Amino acid sequence: SREEDESNKGLRVYDPAFQNTAVCHSKITYINGDNGVLRYRGYPIEQLAEKSTYLEVAYLLIYGELPSKSQYSNFSHEVMHHTFVHFNVTELMRKFNYDAHPMGMFISGISALSTFHPDANPALAGSDLFKNDEKTRNKQIFRLLGKTPTLAAMAYRHRIGRRYNPPQNDLSYAENFLYMLDRLSEENYKPNPKLSKALDILFILHADHELNCSTAAMRHIGSSLVDPYSAVAGAAAALYGPLHGGANEAVLRMLEEIGSIDKVPLFLEQVKDRKRKLFGFGHRVYKNYDPRAKIIRKIAYEVFEVCGQEPLIDVAIELEKIALQDEYFVKRKLYPNVDFYSGLIYKAMGFPTDMFPVLFAIPRIAGWLAHWKESLEDKESKIWRPRQVYVGPSVRSYVPLELRD
Ligand code: SDX
Repeated sequence: SREEDESNKGLRVYDPAFQNTAVCHSKITYINGDNGVLRYRGYPIEQLAEKSTYLEVAYLLIYGELPSKSQYSNFSHEVMHHTFVHFNVTELMRKFNYDAHPMGMFISGISALSTFHPDANPALAGSDLFKNDEKTRNKQIFRLLGKTPTLAAMAYRHRIGRRYNPPQNDLSYAENFLYMLDRLSEENYKPNPKLSKALDILFILHADHELNCSTAAMRHIGSSLVDPYSAVAGAAAALYGPLHGGANEAVLRMLEEIGSIDKVPLFLEQVKDRKRKLFGFGHRVYKNYDPRAKIIRKIAYEVFEVCGQEPLIDVAIELEKIALQDEYFVKRKLYPNVDFYSGLIYKAMGFPTDMFPVLFAIPRIAGWLAHWKESLEDKESKIWRPRQVYVGPSVRSYVPLELRD
């Protein structure tokens, strides 16, 4: 019908094979859901996880190529020297309830950044932020990559009732984050290198994933030409949901509720009766094993060597083993996704479960920024304004209140 034809114009093309609507062209990330393939700018995720670092991958995603030595040293210097937040943002974070959910604090802190940087608000700075000014955009990219771990660490320290630790610009990205989370009193404290490395790899694996719910939100919000701090806050809000980045928290709560291996069959029966959801399983695109989950499962055991085995891993392994042999899950092509094992690592590292979505959001900021920058540089890009197929009542006349029974 006309409405249906209209409805696809704004989103360019509708292809049932995609089970969705392709809304843009992008050169950033490629996923093949049937074969479990994930590449950032053409590089297989397995190679980047093994050989790269998160900041190098952030540069790759945002600027399109692996950086030269001088490009990398300049980029990491810029990011690591934009790690402090304005004193008033710190004061804002202190005002939250002692038991405020860290993700809510994190989103508020990011949004607050837009009120402290004149370049985010043309009225304040008189600068026209949206003349595709590359210098301003780069400054905002450095600030968001640099300051968000600081905000995340503040949310964690607030959660455990401890004072905030200042960022350490001479540490690596993951080391600095772990330092701010948990600085011990001893001088020159440096986080355990095995844990910093494990976290850096987890950040690489979570950095981008094509047009997932939160990245689509980033492109959608950014298409109105709002500042990137506000757009990232909106994308983080989308990630917070338990069907998306909040799933890693939901997985842990699910595993804790199951409690032991012998309870797994009963739980899976409840899932098949549609009474429960198997969090950490299934994916909008992957109809095969999520390649990230394979790598994360390996990292889990490396972290357990340092922090001690997380007993719930046995419940997770048993869940996976039984589900992957069960017709109900096999027929629906439900496999472990990126969230199935990540929470077990974070728990073993000592994070409370409500910090897990924050740990997903930090690295995903690189992906959100890459898509935001790509959409701003796309000459054809316009404000996103999808159409709908109207299925409401046809025209009718108003009835005055006194005539209504
Ligand atoms: C992330 O998009 C991305 O790329 C996201 C992400 C990223 O990096 O950004 O990969 C990160 O969000 C991973 C997903 C984390 N979410 C969860 O683990 C929550 C649990 N998973 C589901 O809610 C679900 O699998 C989704 C939301 C992820 C996908 O939902 P879909 O696309 O609606 O699932 P589907 O159409 O493939 O479902 C097919 C069938 C349905 O059954 P029927 O109605 O056909 O009988 O499988 C069922 C679904 O009900 N199903 C599940 C299930 N997931 C799908 N049944 C039980 N448990 C599940 N987890």
